[in-house]
Amino acid sequence: MDWWQTGVIYQVYPRSFQDSNGDGIGDLAGLTTRLEYLAWLGVDAVWISPFYPSPMVDFGYDVTDHTGVDPAYGTLADFDALLARAHALGLRVLVDFIPGCTSNQHPWFKESRASRFSPVRDWYIWRDPAPEGGPPNNWLSHFGGPAWTLDETSGQYYLHTFLPEQPDLNWRNPKVQVALLDVMRFWLERGVDGFRIAAVPLLVKDVQFRDEPPNPDFDPQWDNPRYQRLPVYADNQPEVHDVLRHFRRLLDTYPGRIAVGEMPDYFPPETLAVYSRPDRLHLAFTPCPLSLPWRAADLRACADKTQAAFGAEVWPTWVMGNHDRPRLTSRIGPAQARAAALLLLTMRGTPFIYYGDEIGMLDAPIPPEARRDRVRSARPPNEADGGPANRSRDPGRTPMQWDSMPNAGFSGTPPWLPIGPDYEHRNVAAQRADTGSLLSLYRFLLRYRRGSPALQQGTYRSLDTDSPECFAFLRETPEERLLIVLNLADTARVVSLPPLGEGQVITSTLMDRAERIDLQTIFLREHEGILFDVHGPAEAEEVLP
Ligand code: NOJ
Ligand code: CA
Repeated sequence: MDWWQTGVIYQVYPRSFQDSNGDGIGDLAGLTTRLEYLAWLGVDAVWISPFYPSPMVDFGYDVTDHTGVDPAYGTLADFDALLARAHALGLRVLVDFIPGCTSNQHPWFKESRASRFSPVRDWYIWRDPAPEGGPPNNWLSHFGGPAWTLDETSGQYYLHTFLPEQPDLNWRNPKVQVALLDVMRFWLERGVDGFRIAAVPLLVKDVQFRDEPPNPDFDPQWDNPRYQRLPVYADNQPEVHDVLRHFRRLLDTYPGRIAVGEMPDYFPPETLAVYSRPDRLHLAFTPCPLSLPWRAADLRACADKTQAAFGAEVWPTWVMGNHDRPRLTSRIGPAQARAAALLLLTMRGTPFIYYGDEIGMLDAPIPPEARRDRVRSARPPNEADGGPANRSRDPGRTPMQWDSMPNAGFSGTPPWLPIGPDYEHRNVAAQRADTGSLLSLYRFLLRYRRGSPALQQGTYRSLDTDSPECFAFLRETPEERLLIVLNLADTARVVSLPPLGEGQVITSTLMDRAERIDLQTIFLREHEGILFDVHGPAEAEEVLP
């Protein structure tokens, strides 16, 4: 097993993690001072969202230089210092890689736009208007409106899957491929341990730019009209797998370095498994727990289907939150978030923790004048989000709540986005001091996982229970057999399971049980989850914190 299969990855949104110079914006030097916290917490790697030079129209996903550092975040020397400190602490570092588009301020795009005869015209996707005028086809931007913008000077349209300020690169042009592979090489040479690759299946487009077919399920109430069309030609083209093979061949010349791909909600696990084959991505984000309502049957179906589709050959990932979604605790509730921590850290696959979810940070209220995110959601309405899909992403990107000092210990000045109003009690310092806190639960589970072959690499098998609101599964290796049982109901439940013998409680999500019980019937309080050692010796209490 490799580190990226046994380890846990923590996502940092650098703008909101730690400010070191008092400008209210998180930066690389600030993050470096907080790496010790991540080592203490017990994660194995950090994925840093983009810190490249950018006009920040999409907060760094609109890049003007893929091999630099935006002055707001520091310098390349700050990055080197961060990497050295992380490695000294035993933490690996993944950087975001955005190969599909650039900022419209990128020198490549400026040159490409300068004239139809520019030598780099074909680095981007330019097309003549449709014969009857208007955009070349019916493709829509993920962020609303047409995916094409007219450039008055040349009379041609350019394609942008996201904002008009983010023109798409043309991955059918070999020079583009070489340039972007050079970007990867640049960071690999600097010592990064891998990449989170943005919007992977969108890299290559239909060679004929055919119109997308209508979506028969489209509901006009949906805020984002993009879902009027089915993503058939702008997405998931077979050639994207050739690109991934190029990435992989390069990565394989640097042992231990990996690629994790961002994947859309609507891919079935079978498709994700193809993207995660051994000659392509190491890991593809499995979106299902993130996009599902907090219901036992849905979660079980997601885990079972993923397991069945991935088999033994490919390795899944589990994600409960990221910078594009509402906060986990806001989505499912504080008691539920404890059960989510247990689920995330005991499923078969690589878990990702979004910064602040380990202390249960909530979506912060953002008054209109403080709003920063121009982008509206890229997803169809989703029951799991508990509200309209078309919402700002600011509430889930507010500064990390470190302590009860002014500005939550994040900065000496009021930060770029407001601090969550609950920071005086919901913060790292307070939860470090509380052995029953959510943070203590995460830390306990992370440490337990590190020493547990079954949690790191064991098989997964879900169990039938007589309680539809409960989810139970086994994780097993020849030497270790663990049982995880979660009650997702608002009231207590007694769960009956197939005979398993006795089990020793390793921890409850409420961190207050240590008994050994017969596993045939298990009493669970509301939203409680329990991790059992099925062959646990009576002295297993030793592992409790
Ligand atoms: C993927 C990123 O996760 C998201 O934040 C961004 O808005 C889109 N790419 C488009 O750039
Ligand atoms: Ca700063």
